[in-house]
Amino acid sequence: MRIDIITLFPEMCRCALLESIIGRAVKSGAVTLEFHQLRDYAFDKHKRVDDTPYGGGMGMVLKAEPIALCFEDICSKLGLRPHFVYMSPQGRVLNQQILKDTAEKYDNICILCGHYEGIDERVLEELVDEEISIGDYVLTGGELAACVYADSLCRMVPGVLSDEECFTEESHYNGLLEYPQYTKPSVWRGREVPQVLLSGHHKNIEEWRRMQSIIRTREKRPDMYKIAKISEFEIE
Ligand code: ADE
Repeated sequence: MRIDIITLFPEMCRCALLESIIGRAVKSGAVTLEFHQLRDYAFDKHKRVDDTPYGGGMGMVLKAEPIALCFEDICSKLGLRPHFVYMSPQGRVLNQQILKDTAEKYDNICILCGHYEGIDERVLEELVDEEISIGDYVLTGGELAACVYADSLCRMVPGVLSDEECFTEESHYNGLLEYPQYTKPSVWRGREVPQVLLSGHHKNIEEWRRMQSIIRTREKRPDMYKIAKISEFEIE
C-alpha cells in the first residue's frame, strides 16, 4: 500500500508515522508513505494557499487550485489516480470495518488534511472520493486525523504486523472487544492471574478468552454486543 498525505504540516505527520511499527514497515518496504507540502503548489503571485471566505465570516479557507495541482502531480508521478480522502468532521465516522474494506480495495490512497475553516467546496465536488472523520469532535486540523487513519490502515496490510502483533484477535476485529491479558508476575499486589491461563490447556484457554470477550463486550459496549455474532450456546 502507498499513502500520500497532502498537508501544510508534513513534519507533524512524519513524526507520528515514521516511528515504531509503521516506521519499521516503511523501512522494510511493506508500505510507502509520502508527505507533500501544499505550499509548494501555490503558484499565484502571492503564493497563497488560503483566502477569506466568500460571503464573509471568520477564518480562512484553503484554495482549490494548490490542492488540485498537488493531487494531479501525485497522480502523474504514480501513473494512476489514488483513492482521494479528505479528513473532515463531516465525513463517515471511521471504524474497523471501514478500515478493513478500504485496505482490501485500495493499494493507493491520497489523504488531504484541511486547516483553518476548511477547503473550497469545489475540491470536494471535483476531486475528493470520500470524507472520513475520526470522531464527533473537532480538531484544529486534519493532520492528527490523517495520522490515525494512515496508521490504522497500514497495520491491516499483510507483513506490517508480526505474528505476535496479529490483529485478528484484537478488539473490534471480529465485532467483539479483546479478552483480558496478563503477564508476569502471576500474583501482583495480591491479584492472581486466572488459573486457566497458567494451565497450558489450549482449548480451555481459547474457550475462556472467547467468553471473556463476550462478557466484556456486553459490559463495556452494549451497542456492539447487540449486533455481535454469538451462538445461542454462548449466550446461555
Ligand atoms: N478535522 C478536524 N476534525 C476532524 C475529525 N474529527 N475527523 C477528521 N478530520 C478532522
